[in-house]
Amino acid sequence: MLAPFSTRVLAWFDQHGRKDLPWQQNTSPYRIWVSEIMLQQTQVNTVIPYFERFMARFPDVQALADAPEDEVLHLWTGLGYYARARNLHKAAREVTKMHGGQLPDTIEALCDLPGIGRSTAGAIASIAFGQRASILDGNVKRVLARYHRVAGWPGRASVDHQLWKMAERYTPDERCADYTQAIMDLGATHCTRRAPACDNCPLRDDCAGRLQGDQLRFPGKKPQKVLPVKSTCFLVARNREGQVWLEKRPTQGIWGGLWCFPEISSPAQGRLRSLDLWHTEPVREEVQDGFRHSFSHYHLDITPVVIDLDTSTPPVMETPGRLWYNLRKPPQIGLAAPVATLLKQLAGAGTVME
Ligand code: ADE
Repeated sequence: MLAPFSTRVLAWFDQHGRKDLPWQQNTSPYRIWVSEIMLQQTQVNTVIPYFERFMARFPDVQALADAPEDEVLHLWTGLGYYARARNLHKAAREVTKMHGGQLPDTIEALCDLPGIGRSTAGAIASIAFGQRASILDGNVKRVLARYHRVAGWPGRASVDHQLWKMAERYTPDERCADYTQAIMDLGATHCTRRAPACDNCPLRDDCAGRLQGDQLRFPGKKPQKVLPVKSTCFLVARNREGQVWLEKRPTQGIWGGLWCFPEISSPAQGRLRSLDLWHTEPVREEVQDGFRHSFSHYHLDITPVVIDLDTSTPPVMETPGRLWYNLRKPPQIGLAAPVATLLKQLAGAGTVME
């Protein structure tokens, strides 16, 4: 028996589905195939002119197989994801060599061609060959994940497996081509990523996501990688003029070319570095609460070690790449982000020694 889900999707298609797209006219397996490749990750309206130009130049598999790759890529220019064009061209050559110029009609043989995965093979098998075959592209994943509140990121094998099971369950024996087109269109036009039009959706009455009001949580996002954590201490040295010592970082590495506090490996190093740099011991030392600064590839836990130097004149002449930074009259220099934050705090707290 047809599931209510599929009945509603098909009824919606009869009323609202698109039926006049270029690849829905003069249908042939070749035209459906090319359209499905172009429609991967690309919207219908973008695809239409590309499809028409492509068909005018390569009206059948043989014409495509005979063409030089450059010409195929030229007609793809602006559509993006050029591997699709290269694979399509390669596949056309395979089809002429191994299948007598006829696109094969089984999921297995379709999947063996470059650029055709399980979902695209399902779309071609159902739309071009009228078979009962399931699809699960990004749009369909979104519809199903919201309808059933499927937790987890669809890139995970177990989630993908669950979604395929659902896709298969809802695939009707009859009118599979219409259903395939309908469920993709529904995902693309109604069940959109950020602003789904639930009020007009044929599945609104029993979509679990909509009923719970948390449809935007589905499908789950790709989990963030667990990043390694490194730690460091910033030596924040102040003199009696209210100036703070900064050093320009080497071009290579993090904060390349930006100005930063000297880094020390532990608070205990502060005294030694002070002697080394300014030939004097700090009169006061404060290890402040640490904070985290995150890069794309790791977290850096930073502990500021603030020291005060009891000297009224800069104890070391500034040299290129080193300066006493005046909090009241800041120079126009590039600062590493956490350095800018700390300097702002120092200026705001009025902690400048007088
Ligand atoms: N995305 C992939 N194939 C599609 C199709 N046939 N119609 C709409 N969007 C699609």
